[in-house]
Amino acid sequence: MGKTAIHFDDRAIGVFDSGVGGLTVVKQLIKKLPHESIIYFGDTARIPYGTKSEEIVRRFSLEDSFFLMDKNVKLIVVACNTASAIAVPMLQNILDIPVIGVLEPGARAAATLSSRKRIGVIGTAATIRSNSYQKEIKAITPESQIIQQACPLFVPMVEEGWTEDDVTYLIAKRYLHILLENQVDTVILGCTHYPLLRTAIQKTLGPAIRLVDSGIETAETVKKMLHKKNISAPDNTHPKYYFYLSDMPYKFQEIAERFLERTVPHVETINFDQFLIEKGEQFWKKYQDLLTKVY
Ligand code: DGL
Repeated sequence: MGKTAIHFDDRAIGVFDSGVGGLTVVKQLIKKLPHESIIYFGDTARIPYGTKSEEIVRRFSLEDSFFLMDKNVKLIVVACNTASAIAVPMLQNILDIPVIGVLEPGARAAATLSSRKRIGVIGTAATIRSNSYQKEIKAITPESQIIQQACPLFVPMVEEGWTEDDVTYLIAKRYLHILLENQVDTVILGCTHYPLLRTAIQKTLGPAIRLVDSGIETAETVKKMLHKKNISAPDNTHPKYYFYLSDMPYKFQEIAERFLERTVPHVETINFDQFLIEKGEQFWKKYQDLLTKVY
């Protein structure tokens, strides 16, 4: 008597990103939650999101979520920082399963870690333009000073594999000097690709500045949410991983392995336009009332 029954849920966690960068978040999820199955959707046909308008990022994020909902996932992780910065509150309002973005966990970690409350945020142009990290940090520690810098060249550089090249250091110096001038003590790596530049960024900023990897913080938040909602997978589950892409990019395995640090099995390219024609309509209808408030 008085004992709460423990329920398990072996449905997969759904993760989406604009491309393969979100595998840095998957890597952290696998580490933290080794029994959870994962279904990943990378919108490689429509990447980048980081240069697009808020309206388009919101629509793409909804459509990516519809794909995962159709796979019957129990929770959605928005691995893309751009989508997290722009679309997560809307997804949380509309969808009937928990949605976790990388923004809030990253902001919370930075607000806690920063001793002088001078925090740098780096990300895509759309993430920085949205001011979402700034708003989130200020909501936690209003006295914080936030210095933001978009670093659009970092994404193609990582995909090219130039994580420790001479050119990497030149570009990093050019982007990051403003953070040094403003004497930040903590910097959020606010983009899926930036954890791969950690060494170059740390060397450019110096050893005293603390770097926050939003993916690591997000995995912890997901763990807590599964526990809170009583939807963790049982400990004896052999997890399954499925990776769906809307296009097979050139050198996919090579790039993906760099992000995930292991080979990527069960990769399937899907015709996303076909999915949206066949199934998208049903989802738009299902959420019509809520969506009219958003659009
Ligand atoms: N995944 C994106 C992000 O984390 C980077 C790539 C893009 O621009 O789509 O913001």
